[in-house]
Amino acid sequence: MAFLINSDPERVRVFADEFARELPDLRFASDPAVIDRAEVRYLLTWSAPEDLSSFSNLEVLFSIGAGVDQFRTDLLPEKVKLVRMVEEGIIRMMQEYATLAVLALHRDLPGYLAQQARGDWRARPVLQAPERRVGVLGLGMLGSAVLDRLRPFGFALSGWSRSARDIPDVRCHSGEAGLKAFLSQTDILICLLPLTAETRGFLNADVFASLPAGASLVHVGRGPQLDHAALLAALDSDHLAGAVIDVTDPEPLSADHPFWRHPKMLLTPHVASVTQPETGAKAVVANIRRHEAGLDPVGLVDRNRGY
Ligand code: NDP
Ligand code: OXD
Repeated sequence: MAFLINSDPERVRVFADEFARELPDLRFASDPAVIDRAEVRYLLTWSAPEDLSSFSNLEVLFSIGAGVDQFRTDLLPEKVKLVRMVEEGIIRMMQEYATLAVLALHRDLPGYLAQQARGDWRARPVLQAPERRVGVLGLGMLGSAVLDRLRPFGFALSGWSRSARDIPDVRCHSGEAGLKAFLSQTDILICLLPLTAETRGFLNADVFASLPAGASLVHVGRGPQLDHAALLAALDSDHLAGAVIDVTDPEPLSADHPFWRHPKMLLTPHVASVTQPETGAKAVVANIRRHEAGLDPVGLVDRNRGY
């Protein structure tokens, strides 16, 4: 019985130490060439190897990231559990990034950067936080943690999810029926939806038109959720005031893509949040223990929903 990790040397080193301490009887491997695939019960990887079927005794496929859209669940045998990453490091980093982005938009950092480039020393209009409505698409592990972190600033908070949620101090909306009301009362929209058949292309012209004039977008979900042309049109018509974009399709963008130099946009290269090796290793060890005790791992993916 073995655990196989497919990752960079630094992450492998941290996982190896944690597994040696906590699960010394489980064979630990990082080189698929030196292990009999039939021995592998647990696989941790960012994306699945093409010949996954040769891992004939695989029980759990752990994603290194929170997203699992890179896996073809239709090719995964029914008996294999697919598990997304739930660990404190990735949550903390997403809270930091979302806070950075919301404050940058709230205080009009893109506008000041443009003024700085022109040598223009001038105060821009500013709203007080309670007058700024911040709405999060997706109220899962990351969306709800981001709302927690934003709460002390005093923004008017809301969120939208598939099923109804109840979060203190957050106006919660759900399903198709709740979407329009949510969007029409959101000044800064943060996308933290997983990529599924339903959310592909979700951030489109209709969604942007449903936001109030002067609204802004923070996109930290997945690239294929965003219609680039629709975002550019909404920014260029001044319906939207700004955007902070961390994920695009493709990644990276071509050198001549308009996002690179758009004056209303801040662009980062898919770095909002990263699984931290130390805390990630502890989370995977805890999940293996849960699995071996007959419990579902934390972060078990529902294949029908796709997340
Ligand atoms: P979760 O699975 O914990 O939460 C997903 C949320 O989205 C849930 O609230 C779910 O609703 C909601 N949702 C899913 N589909 C729909 C839909 N069709 N309509 C309405 N609501 C929907 O995911 P995480 O919070 O862990 O992660 C979210 C995503 O963030 C990841 O999948 C990944 O793509 C992205 N990510 C990006 C990173 C970056 O660096 N840019 C880093 C890490 C993650 P319900 O609660 O009803 O199930
Ligand atoms: C993730 C990511 O899904 O880094 O974890 O995007």
